[in-house]
Amino acid sequence: MSVVIAPSILSADFAKLGDDIAMLEAGGADWIHVDVMDGRFVPNLTFGAKVIETVRRLTTLPIDVHLMVVEPERYFDDFAAAGATGLTIHPEVSPHLHRQLARIRELGCLAGASLNPSTSLDAVAEVVPELDLLLIMTVNPGYGGQKFIDPMVDKVRRARELLDRAGSDAWLQVDGGINRKTIVETWRAGADSFVAGNAIFAAADPQGEIGALRAQCMEQA
Ligand code: DX5
Ligand code: ZN
Repeated sequence: MSVVIAPSILSADFAKLGDDIAMLEAGGADWIHVDVMDGRFVPNLTFGAKVIETVRRLTTLPIDVHLMVVEPERYFDDFAAAGATGLTIHPEVSPHLHRQLARIRELGCLAGASLNPSTSLDAVAEVVPELDLLLIMTVNPGYGGQKFIDPMVDKVRRARELLDRAGSDAWLQVDGGINRKTIVETWRAGADSFVAGNAIFAAADPQGEIGALRAQCMEQA
């Protein structure tokens, strides 16, 4: 089974984004995770299409965009044009989830749905065939560097069952507080795509940490 490591540039140094992205690539990152926040769905504010365009110029890696925004469909076209390869939206603010996921696919991007810790898996149960990625938030979204919420391991396990029962080959992603310990717990529970910000950027050797995180899973394989 493959392991995708998706470093989040939320924790990068924007004064040297080019160097940081080159470092992530050299360390073996699989995707670049870009956290878009609007100050409404989550308290924090981050980036828009301009930064996605900049990242697109800096790397050929897939750009995995996590939309923590209300009315995410307002940004699909611009973000796809800017070079996003995946767009992940929150059902909590996407009442027409089926249509919204279909639109993301139409734009040629992987269609993802992301669940807050308090949101039940039922929120995506009817749209599993429309999903290329299911993200289980392992912190409440809004900030990097938060503590992993332990009961989410069981939610990942149930999400894996949901995908497998439906014969889905969607990625099962986790995001928030992923480190050498929690990556193993969530990998064992069935996750295969791991977002990490603080664990990589605050490590003594950020480039080496990507391989170290991956190795934690491979040791279990
Ligand atoms: C949280 C974001 C995450 C965040 C993860 O709202 O969705 O992607 O950057 O950061 P860490 O790994 O530091 O918890
Ligand atoms: Zn994220």
